[in-house]
Amino acid sequence: MGNTPTRYGRAVIVVAVASFTLTNPGCRCPGAPANDPGGTPAKAPAPIVKATPPAATPQVVIPPRPQAFPPSVPPATVSGNIPLAVPLPEQINSPVQIRPNFDYFSWQSFIALNWPAASGSRGVPAQPGNPDVFLKATPGTPVVWGTYKDSEELFGQGNQRPTPWDSTTIPVNPCPNAPAGQKTLIFLSKGNTPLMQTKQAFSFPLIDQRNNYVYFDIRYNQAQYDFIRGQDADPASWLYLAKNLVPKENVPKGLQMPMSSPPSTLGSIMVKAAWRIKTDKDDASRYYSTPAFIYNPQTSTCVPATVLLVGLHIAHKVSPFTEWVWSTFEQVDNVPPDAGVTPPPAPPPAGYSFNNGTGSPATPNGYDYRPPVAPSIKAGAQPGASTLKPVQVTRVNPIPDTPQGASTRDLNAYYQQLLKGTVWQYYQLIVTQWPFQPGLDNFVLMQNGGVYPRDSGAAFPVNGAINTTMETYLQTQNDAAGAGGNSCMECHYGAGQSDFSWGLNRRAH
Ligand code: HEC
Repeated sequence: MGNTPTRYGRAVIVVAVASFTLTNPGCRCPGAPANDPGGTPAKAPAPIVKATPPAATPQVVIPPRPQAFPPSVPPATVSGNIPLAVPLPEQINSPVQIRPNFDYFSWQSFIALNWPAASGSRGVPAQPGNPDVFLKATPGTPVVWGTYKDSEELFGQGNQRPTPWDSTTIPVNPCPNAPAGQKTLIFLSKGNTPLMQTKQAFSFPLIDQRNNYVYFDIRYNQAQYDFIRGQDADPASWLYLAKNLVPKENVPKGLQMPMSSPPSTLGSIMVKAAWRIKTDKDDASRYYSTPAFIYNPQTSTCVPATVLLVGLHIAHKVSPFTEWVWSTFEQVDNVPPDAGVTPPPAPPPAGYSFNNGTGSPATPNGYDYRPPVAPSIKAGAQPGASTLKPVQVTRVNPIPDTPQGASTRDLNAYYQQLLKGTVWQYYQLIVTQWPFQPGLDNFVLMQNGGVYPRDSGAAFPVNGAINTTMETYLQTQNDAAGAGGNSCMECHYGAGQSDFSWGLNRRAH
């Protein structure tokens, strides 16, 4: 790689979001909504009130685009259309140069995936061209990725065949006690899965400052789900069965899942989310929240709770990035800000989720201790009744501050401004990781002697791409060495023959 200019070929266009109309295209003026002719009536500047969404959400005001943003990074949009390409400049000299383009892609994907879902179908945004649908969504509204099929529906069905994409039937259902037909339960009885995972990838559980476990769920979009589920008429295509998967993986470049490309091909997207249990000490107006059932394997029952979204991984196989584009987001109150952030943000009103705010106990590698994996889940299954000890967490790998003026931090500020008045203003992109030299020509499976990052598309950044809620104990290269590495691509390269899906690699049975 070095200084060799890289071209990604044809797929460098931005997907047009044709149906999107700015309600207020004229305003580029900082702090100007008071004079916005099409928007809210003029009034004195309001003091900043913590965490109370305005009664009437203003029309979309696209904040002024920072001058340091490269021309190839389009202005932000509030759109429910998942981007199908990364917008890139003609000439690419270095990965840092194009980080803002990838961060733009991550943020637009985050908005589209968290768009309110159309009712009665999976993975479909409600009115994707109407920003109000997103900006005025009521708390707990099911979102697009939340209606994707859960990993358990694909891999947890034993001898049963996973049901078709649109089906709401789960042959093997860990929450049969969940009362049917109650409105608050619809998200999970439609999304169809309880939260039952507490153990992190190759690692340990995480306990928050309220003494509860953090729960994870993994979901696949239709392209990926259907690909793994296979055709009814062709049992050899059922890749959730190891006997079918293994021969398809044992080919020179491994298994290849569907890839997105413009103008309208939506390829594979996989999502992993981290949730914590809402208690009465928490300020739910700073979180995306939803009703859930928490599975207790000790009693084989499910306990209802409200859960708060604290982390979100998104992996999208989008042309020409054969090794996927990896994005990870966190709620801003998770851990104290990185050193050097000016001005330092005020501590969150209800405290950090994973740090007591005092600097003690110490967190040499980003955590003070690692809770045992077993007999784990028992206490976490009883919200509020737990006597578990919180893990003190800090971020080891700072949110990138390059390129200057258009870094991940800068894009966060820009998008948080765009999303003011919604819970999404309290989320931040931690990092985007992508293959700088994508393409199957460069790709060599690890199992065939491939070496990370060289043979996996030259990942950028090479390492240190981690979410504090999902890879808490793997933030340093040392800690992550045994688990495969401290970045998305480094670790998932170990599942390269399964097209980077650890879920497919580990859960096919
Ligand atoms: C140390 C290894 C490791 C690291 C680092 C890591 N992951 Fe994973 N990831 C896993 C494992 C293991 C799973 C679990 C698969 C399962 O149990 O179903 C997983 C699951 C996922 C899934 C769910 C789908 C699937 O089939 O793999 C996504 C999406 C994902 N990770 C994204 C990311 C992103 C984004 C990052 C970086 C910010 C990241 N991961 C870092 C190991 C890792």
